[in-house]
Amino acid sequence: MAEGAVLLHGFAKPVEVDLLADLRDIVEQAPFRHMVTPGGHQMSVAMTNCGGLGWVTDRTGYRYDADDPETGKPWPAMPPSFRELAEQAADHAGFGGFSPDACLINRYQPGARMSLHQDEDEEDFAAPIVSVSLGLPAIFLFGGLKRSDTPRRFRLQHGDIAVWGGPARLRFHGIAPLADGEHALLGRQRINLTFRKAL
Ligand code: SIN
Ligand code: FE2
Repeated sequence: MAEGAVLLHGFAKPVEVDLLADLRDIVEQAPFRHMVTPGGHQMSVAMTNCGGLGWVTDRTGYRYDADDPETGKPWPAMPPSFRELAEQAADHAGFGGFSPDACLINRYQPGARMSLHQDEDEEDFAAPIVSVSLGLPAIFLFGGLKRSDTPRRFRLQHGDIAVWGGPARLRFHGIAPLADGEHALLGRQRINLTFRKAL
């Protein structure tokens, strides 16, 4: 996609059944919810997390937190199926030794979108971002290092993994409004798993 950014087509397909079973367990413990931005807007994407740290937003700002603010309990552990896939994808993309401590799980229903942003709430930008797409296809907007840079558009399909790090680590990115459709395994939704090293 750019220097330091790779799209691995179908990389997650061989483990889709394990991923979806583990996802079901996570969502039972930490249900999807629509978080509120510091500006007071409710996000169209529903979110939850697994791993030692979870990304959260509320009226006070963005942060990583070990506990789910809805339940007061730690986020569910990151399942081995998730961790191994993320580590292998990073390796494949040229980022050996990736060890994520956070996995943000995004659920898009038709019409949901994510506006252009940088992933910059992590302590350390040496580690890449590993982003797994499941379910309905989406248009990934992959911009430059300035918000005003015109993004390129990439179609992300079920099983695709995007990895960006190094010189691409702080590129702006987002998701165009999700088109309606029906996916054989996931129905009318897209799930995205975003692995980070937050600390
Ligand atoms: C994100 O940037 O957190 C989500 C990207 C995606 O849904 O593919
Ligand atoms: Fe992001």
